[in-house]
Amino acid sequence: MTLRLQALHPLFAAQASGLDLTQALSAQDVKDINAAMNHYAVLVWRDQPMSPAQQIALSESFGPLDIGLKRVFKRKERLDDERLIDISNVDLNGELHRRDSPKNLSSFANQLWHSDSSFMSPKAAYSMLHALVIPSEGGNTEFCDLRAAYDALPLDLKEEIQDLSAEHYALHTRLLLGDNAYTDEQKKAIEPAVWPLVSVHPGSKRQVLFVGVHAHKIMGWPIAEARIFLSDLLEHATQRSFVYAHQWQVGDLVMWDNRSTLHRGRRYDLNQRRELRRTTFNDVPEANLAAV
Ligand code: OGA
Ligand code: MN
Repeated sequence: MTLRLQALHPLFAAQASGLDLTQALSAQDVKDINAAMNHYAVLVWRDQPMSPAQQIALSESFGPLDIGLKRVFKRKERLDDERLIDISNVDLNGELHRRDSPKNLSSFANQLWHSDSSFMSPKAAYSMLHALVIPSEGGNTEFCDLRAAYDALPLDLKEEIQDLSAEHYALHTRLLLGDNAYTDEQKKAIEPAVWPLVSVHPGSKRQVLFVGVHAHKIMGWPIAEARIFLSDLLEHATQRSFVYAHQWQVGDLVMWDNRSTLHRGRRYDLNQRRELRRTTFNDVPEANLAAV
């Protein structure tokens, strides 16, 4: 079987088919998917129902998996394997979470434009999200293309940001959402990470405007001025022409490159179940991300 791709948006994102992701991928399959990811940055696979073990095996063929924010929260989790991130509104007993539960709070942070784990070093490379239960309406996931965002910047802004770096902090989104009940130990569990505002994506060699809601400072700038500028850049990067909105179907597997895109979840009725499972691996030398 060979990989087939069909564009979903004029700039990026494609529907991928032709491979069975529940079976072991060949080295050539991994290479082909990486090449497609370098080009499209988001791949949507329909009708790939898979077990937790199958999702882990699939993800591990690209890189060693990471637990991200679980380093801070250390909550008892519904999914047995810590490498699976529970993107759901369902508690340990299989019931819907209370509206104001800590878990729902984390999910609200996912509704702000972000790149997974940009608050850590190394940061995330790909994430893979698999849909098990979806609400009857709402709950899309939107993606924006940070390469197109960079390309469309006016020249003077490109020059201004060329040598700037931003600090990304794990708890910034939580503080924004009014949640500051963290111990000093939790606040320090993940050292903030500093990333250039402009980077070159290693696989595509395209320049990327690397912003997102985890960025809370620009190095050497007053905080207020930095936050306003970061929010202007984020607004630029997420303008509708750069956005692909994914409408979930059960059995979808969506993979995206956190180094070249941002994403956010959209609102839905919390009285309805929404259950997805995520795996993420980091941009480390051991990752199987051969550039093509
Ligand atoms: C994620 C995420 C958004 C959503 O899983 O990393 O941000 O739509 N999810 O659930
Ligand atoms: Mn995310």
